[in-house]
Amino acid sequence: MTVPVAPIGVFDSGVGGLTVLRALRAALPQADFVYLGDTARLPYGTKSAATVARYSLQCAAALRARGIGCLVVACNTASASALEALRAAYPDLPVVGVVEPGAAAAVGASRTRSIAVIATEGTIAGGAYQRAIQAHAADARVVARACPLFVALAEEGWTEGPVVEAIARRYFEGMFEGPRPPDTLVLGCTHFPALAGAIAAALPAAVRVVDSAATTAAAVAARIGAARAAHGRGTVRWLATDGAARFARIGSRFLGAGIVADEVEIVDL
Ligand code: DGL
Repeated sequence: MTVPVAPIGVFDSGVGGLTVLRALRAALPQADFVYLGDTARLPYGTKSAATVARYSLQCAAALRARGIGCLVVACNTASASALEALRAAYPDLPVVGVVEPGAAAAVGASRTRSIAVIATEGTIAGGAYQRAIQAHAADARVVARACPLFVALAEEGWTEGPVVEAIARRYFEGMFEGPRPPDTLVLGCTHFPALAGAIAAALPAAVRVVDSAATTAAAVAARIGAARAAHGRGTVRWLATDGAARFARIGSRFLGAGIVADEVEIVDL
């Protein structure tokens, strides 16, 4: 008899975390997942750290009730504000966030140890990326900037073209200048990989762009063991707190694969 392996729980404020789920499924194609998008309360990026931590604990409780064996906090803002609270609440559950893998990827990519981070207001204000990068490289210079409009643009599907590039150039004003300009940019928000082309077009040519999706997937594989993850059936159970049709429509774009609205269960946290 095959022993069932607990699914991996993944949550985000909405559909953005599907960029992380996409990388997780590529790394662990046989693992089973439960994905929760807190679409009723998004965005998290403009809310206080205390509110994001409270919402995150409620998301984790809903996933725990569905029998998960590992929790992935796919939202950068929730990773920045709630990781310690989640680990304290579930000491027996492996909890993996996206900030630490993103910081590790940036330090690995940077030659000059001068690194730029873009994220939501909440993530930047909390300083989690700045701390995580400096934990890897104490001499690192970190230039951090909130780019909240990128979230709305990605949700609208406005991911390329002159308008998006002009907004990116405006956000990046002065970031890559001075005596030690950053040589690496971390996309510290789930939505930003969708705008990667426009962001790259607005950057100096030598700047490398990294995001945390692939490194987070590698961290999860290391935590749960690839052999264990190979015993699932490659399924995803979809949960959202509002709007199954919108979740499926916009989420399919972020996931890079179709999501069927009828298969999205609406839950109350
Ligand atoms: N998922 C959020 C993040 O990665 C972006 C969207 C939001 O603000 O809720 O920070």
